[in-house]
Amino acid sequence: MDAALEAYLAAQEKKSLLRFLTCGSVDDGKSTLIGRLLYDSKLLFEDTLSALEKDSKQHGTTGGDIDFALLVDGLEAEREQGITIDVAYRFFATEKRKFIVADTPGHEQYTRNMATGASNSELAILLVDARKGMLTQTRRHAYIASLLGIRHVVLAVNKIDLVGFSQEVFDRISAEFSNFAAHLGFLSRFAIPISARFGDNVTSKSAKMPWYGGPPLLTFLESVDVESALADKPFRMPVQWVNRPNLDFRGFSGTIVGGRIKPGDTIAVAKSGRTSTVKRIVTMDGELSEASVGEAVTLTLTDEIDISRGDVLCAANARAEVSDQFAAHLLWMSEEELLPGRQYLLKLATSTVSAQVTALKHKVDVNSLEQLAAKTLRLNEIGYANFSLAQPLAFDPYAENRDMGGFILIDRFSNATVGAGMIDFGLRRATNVHWQALDIDKDARAALKHQKPAVLWFTGLSGSGKSTIANQVECALLAQGRHTYLLDGDNVRHGLNRDLGFTDADRVENIRRVAETAKLFVDAGLIVLVSFISPFRSERRMAREMVGEGEFIEVFVDTPLAVCMQRDPKGLYRKATAGEIKNFTGIDSPYEPPEEAELVLHTVGIEPSVQAAAILSYLKDRGYIA
Ligand code: ADX
Repeated sequence: MDAALEAYLAAQEKKSLLRFLTCGSVDDGKSTLIGRLLYDSKLLFEDTLSALEKDSKQHGTTGGDIDFALLVDGLEAEREQGITIDVAYRFFATEKRKFIVADTPGHEQYTRNMATGASNSELAILLVDARKGMLTQTRRHAYIASLLGIRHVVLAVNKIDLVGFSQEVFDRISAEFSNFAAHLGFLSRFAIPISARFGDNVTSKSAKMPWYGGPPLLTFLESVDVESALADKPFRMPVQWVNRPNLDFRGFSGTIVGGRIKPGDTIAVAKSGRTSTVKRIVTMDGELSEASVGEAVTLTLTDEIDISRGDVLCAANARAEVSDQFAAHLLWMSEEELLPGRQYLLKLATSTVSAQVTALKHKVDVNSLEQLAAKTLRLNEIGYANFSLAQPLAFDPYAENRDMGGFILIDRFSNATVGAGMIDFGLRRATNVHWQALDIDKDARAALKHQKPAVLWFTGLSGSGKSTIANQVECALLAQGRHTYLLDGDNVRHGLNRDLGFTDADRVENIRRVAETAKLFVDAGLIVLVSFISPFRSERRMAREMVGEGEFIEVFVDTPLAVCMQRDPKGLYRKATAGEIKNFTGIDSPYEPPEEAELVLHTVGIEPSVQAAAILSYLKDRGYIA
């Protein structure tokens, strides 16, 4: 290699790295600012520059001059719409420091990308348009940045040229920001008046604002002290995979997300508590005598202990918490609202488990930072909730370690990411409650009754005939000496579920409770008949998964809406169409038909007794009843 180049690379190596992101509202000038930083730090290649000049003539909004936003708004689609739609990472360097900047979109619905960009940044540049000042979006981004663990924030009051380089405007906006951000736990806050378009106070001090005594933006970025202490935190490595190429080698591969490790160190597997000693640290480039945060390694241990993907290897004397319940901040990123009680997939480090929000404590008004009571979270809303997981996970509070305390929620049907969470603390209460082993079990109770317990889950629209058919099935079973119980929506809503209405969130909770009850009755050895509209696939699937294989028989009473409306046994459809009842299933609340019901019953022109008989033969044929 060329000696000069080698020297250059060596110098780059030694420089500290600052990761930052830019955020703010649409049109506040984020892309222009980044373009300006890249341009002025003279790291643009000549060919990029000439392409830029050409592009500016075609798409530019600056009329003839170079449009710096075009430098970073890489995608055609964005250019045409004039907004940025994904996170783009840019690298640049100055004499003093290296930088990686995450350029995140400011459009309201793209908060998700902002969260992505923020989760590995140390500093946020919050842009505001001097003409507009602090907007809701500005406050939301500042709040999200603080939740995501960013401890340094720069308020860049941009387009200061458009307000005549006014000190008064700058002072007003920076005071407003100070008031707001004082509660957000930032270690440093700094405000700078800039014009990204003309370069004022970006890389060099502007002559047009003699009243501003501080450094230009780049100088500030070069000097701000954000040394991360992650390497000094306890060792953490979530296991990505178990590397076993042959019988003589068994290594555990993953990226170190906290602390450092060397051969001879004692580690513990967070969940099992088993301990061992590190034998070797193997990497693509040979063996290491020490590895630390950020490095991808394979560890071999001196003992054969049981470890699999999703386990977290920890410093034995400073272990991660393990719990199936915790409290966390939650940023909602889906058009579909959060439904407490619904099962989502929760992905944290290398583990994915089923999880639900058990209690939504509050949501936050991002303008006033007030905590408001809430039953759900909508797109871009931020709340605080208790979570319950199907299995315990190893984690650390987000404030301790972002990788060990940050998670995403995934919709089980669409596979879309719907939320991002930051763990506040584990709820230990859960670990004090242990399952009590009892001597009499489901099989013993069922044997006494000479039947195989199961749930017959009737689902369908109101007026479809669920309760009528279920009632007849129960009569027939009773006549044969079977032990049964019928849980009917209207009846259960008079007692156990009297506190619930018909919003999506309440219906989810309605079904969760009735599924739990049905599960207890199955455990008691009964044949349980459940007759609820149960409009959502997700909760019917949850009910199915709660009981054993073959114990859930989904019965779809498939009566067309028009027929139900015509029957209208309780006069409810009439009221719903007249707008007197809100959220009525089939009218202004959805019904998701089953995709794989064990039984589909059509009721038009068929007597309920015929359907009941069909169900009875199903039970007989499959050995539920002798
Ligand atoms: S579910 O959707 O949560 O499963 P559930 O079966 O408990 O509903 O209750 C449905 C019954 O409540 C209906 O049969 C009807 O008698 C009554 N009801 C009252 N308001 C509504 C409504 N908005 N939507 C559906 N059913 C309603």
